[in-house]
Amino acid sequence: MSGVQLPPGLRWEPLQRSHPRRQFECGQPEVDDWIRRNAWQHQKKHLSVTKVLLDEHGRIAGYYTLTMGQVDFSELPAELARQLPRRRLPVAVLAWLGVSAAQQGQGLGQLLLAQTLRDCYEAGDTFAFVAVILDCLSDAAKAFYQKWDFEELPGHPYRLFVSYRQLEAMMRRE
Ligand SMILES: CC(C)(COP(=O)(O)OP(=O)(O)OC[C@H]1O[C@@H](n2cnc3c(N)ncnc32)[C@H](O)[C@@H]1OP(=O)(O)O)[C@@H](O)C(=O)NCCC(=O)NCCS
Repeated sequence: MSGVQLPPGLRWEPLQRSHPRRQFECGQPEVDDWIRRNAWQHQKKHLSVTKVLLDEHGRIAGYYTLTMGQVDFSELPAELARQLPRRRLPVAVLAWLGVSAAQQGQGLGQLLLAQTLRDCYEAGDTFAFVAVILDCLSDAAKAFYQKWDFEELPGHPYRLFVSYRQLEAMMRRE
């Protein structure tokens, strides 16, 4: 998997049934439940893709889940919607992201988000989308994403986006 540099002992893997999903705990119950109960089922059905960051003991230090979605052009800020067709538009969706509570505050969230955005950017060569969007579950999560150029969708304070153009600019800066 191409992408961000990892500290020693950590590795990426696509989610597998054998991963210790039920032990994952990040402090946000919905994020824990998703990987424990749903992520594998959805992956098998090609509804979403989950990647896990494993530590040297094979524990899940963090994970993220990506899928595709649509937003209506009217939901986008005027400067982004201006040159787009007036219909539903394709978006990449960062559906879930979490870092194990024991390993928070060490930069892993940042690594996960960097790899998520890199995956989206690379997918953009094959599948077109106008933005990456996500729904935040808390103000703390929102603050985390806003450090990375994510902005609110008008009228949806907990739905954030970065346009594909911003994503390109971010990847060029790396
Ligand atoms: C949000 C979360 C992913 C951050 O992971 P983390 O590994 O602790 O974050 P990092 O150590 O990489 O921190 C990256 C940056 O975000 C900031 N940050 C992290 N958590 C933050 C918070 N709760 N509020 C504000 N800023 C935060 C850090 O200060 C750091 O900024 P800096 O580089 O300027 O110091 C993690 O706390 C988590 O899993 N929370 C529960 C699940 C969740 O809310 N997921 C997101 C919604 S789906």
